[in-house]
Amino acid sequence: MPNSESIAFYNREDAADLNRRWLSFGRAETNAPVLPDIEKAIMEARAIGREPKVLCIGEGTGVDATKIFTDIFHVPVVAVDASENLLEWSQKNASNPNIEYVHDTWPDLKKIFARNEQYDVVFSSATLQELKPEEHEAAIRSAVQLTKPGGATVLIWPTPPTRAHHSVPDLEILQKTLKNMNHCPEEERLRFSFGKLPDVTNRLALNGEPVMRAYLIIHVPIERKINCESVPSHLPPDYQSRDVHQKSR
Ligand SMILES: C[S@@+](CC[C@H](N)C(=O)[O-])C[C@H]1O[C@@H](n2cnc3c(N)ncnc32)[C@H](O)[C@@H]1O
Repeated sequence: MPNSESIAFYNREDAADLNRRWLSFGRAETNAPVLPDIEKAIMEARAIGREPKVLCIGEGTGVDATKIFTDIFHVPVVAVDASENLLEWSQKNASNPNIEYVHDTWPDLKKIFARNEQYDVVFSSATLQELKPEEHEAAIRSAVQLTKPGGATVLIWPTPPTRAHHSVPDLEILQKTLKNMNHCPEEERLRFSFGKLPDVTNRLALNGEPVMRAYLIIHVPIERKINCESVPSHLPPDYQSRDVHQKSR
């Protein structure tokens, strides 16, 4: 079950006000450290004659889709959010022929998986912390499953939490997840980069402390085969490692 408290929160909040606040952080400058990886995935898709496509998870008011993906990279975006309120607002106020808004919930993303499509970039800003801690592993797995070979999963979250209902991903869970996802031949392994983004959200911090934003980029190699993917998100978190160990015996 997704974090219903978080979804209820965003269904109650005034979307126009949220949009003003979220836009006040800018987007290109504040996300500058992750833009080269996004650009690389998009350019590589174009280089092999593929029209790149992006999935934004936790889109909110359409701010990432418009300010990063359609304005800077001119790519079509499927923008997902669990809040009907924010989606309705975005469809009216941030509509763009290159953006398709979809009501769906991470980590399951049932409607998105039902399309049987993968994306050159799967991007999520400030949404992982809205999920319950026990959903973090499944969330990372489903984002990677939806990323095309040669593409990148780019996840950004604030730390420490900026709202009472937030749960920022635990480093141990992240490490375990990444390790479990890498039981593949060398050339099919995911590559990871972690880092920090400029502090832009400290005005929203609960306790007035500066808020760092952490990012995790997962590069999916071109050789990565479908069967070596992370397991479906509804399976128990340790399924992949047990399964792989059994196969390798
Ligand atoms: C802090 S806002 C971030 C909005 C935007 N990505 C940004 O960076 O400004 C978090 C967003 O995540 C959405 N959200 C919360 N839980 C979600 C879930 N389980 N699946 C998809 N979206 C979710 C909320 O409705 C909200 O739009």
